[in-house]
Amino acid sequence: MKEPERLTPQQFELFQKFIFEFCGIKLDPTKITLVSNRIRRRLLATQCPDFSAYYQLVTSRAGAAELPEFIDAITTNETWFFRTPSNFEWFKNTYLQELLREKAEGKREPHLRIWSAACSSGEEPFSLAMCLSEASVSLRGWTVDIVGTDISESSLALARAGLYKKRAMQEMDDARIRRHFTEEPSEIFRIRPTIQNMVAFKKHNLMKPMNDKPFDCIWIRNVLIYFNRESKAKVIENLVRSLASGGYLVVGPSEGIYDMLGMLQKRGTFLYQKQ
Ligand SMILES: C[S@@+](CC[C@H](N)C(=O)[O-])C[C@H]1O[C@@H](n2cnc3c(N)ncnc32)[C@H](O)[C@@H]1O
Repeated sequence: MKEPERLTPQQFELFQKFIFEFCGIKLDPTKITLVSNRIRRRLLATQCPDFSAYYQLVTSRAGAAELPEFIDAITTNETWFFRTPSNFEWFKNTYLQELLREKAEGKREPHLRIWSAACSSGEEPFSLAMCLSEASVSLRGWTVDIVGTDISESSLALARAGLYKKRAMQEMDDARIRRHFTEEPSEIFRIRPTIQNMVAFKKHNLMKPMNDKPFDCIWIRNVLIYFNRESKAKVIENLVRSLASGGYLVVGPSEGIYDMLGMLQKRGTFLYQKQ
């Protein structure tokens, strides 16, 4: 079988429209070679003779099992622990103090619900769990729910496995690594059960409403860069609906949504609060 070289512009448009309607990601036409290479891997895996046959497969009912593989091939899942450390410093030093103060003043119950929306392989929600575990003495008696969601099943499988390479720990010092991981052979690190058990992972498409109890703090970072304004607006609507009143939205540096959050109160460069 002769391998197809690259998607034609017409084929690219078909895939672009399909993925946009499914998960809001707008593939950039200047990335046609990258996208072709990523889809070509799926062509080989599914033994489809060409891009058109693969398009037929992935958009058909019979190709339902291939759809998650296609999404995985297209999405960018890179992440690491404590990415953008200032966000976690706010969480651990400022936000937790605010919660404790509100509790002491009788303004809130000792419950905390956090959502890491688009968590990839789990580094973001696990970093939040580590912050909470490090503050466990002050948080005695509190119940904490941390939910990590992503559209990519293979990323969620990695998150549930809890095994990481040293590369993912570039922002962590050795003491923190030793505290929260055990080292396995071949420089693989296993997250300790105390942290692992704090996070529940589930599959979720940000284009859909979350259908869960409201969250006190939602993290949406390094994902909306791939969305166009229309799908960003849909995601923001869904996130704001899931935010408890007084709750915070933590936004990544490249989301491109700062001018779309007028319904929230700006509290910092990356931080928005629902009134
Ligand atoms: C680069 S990772 C970001 C991980 C983490 N939030 C961080 O900041 O490091 C982007 C993630 O967004 C996920 N994603 C893309 N579109 C999505 C959608 N429509 N719904 C849910 N997750 C999506 C991808 O699968 C990928 O795991």
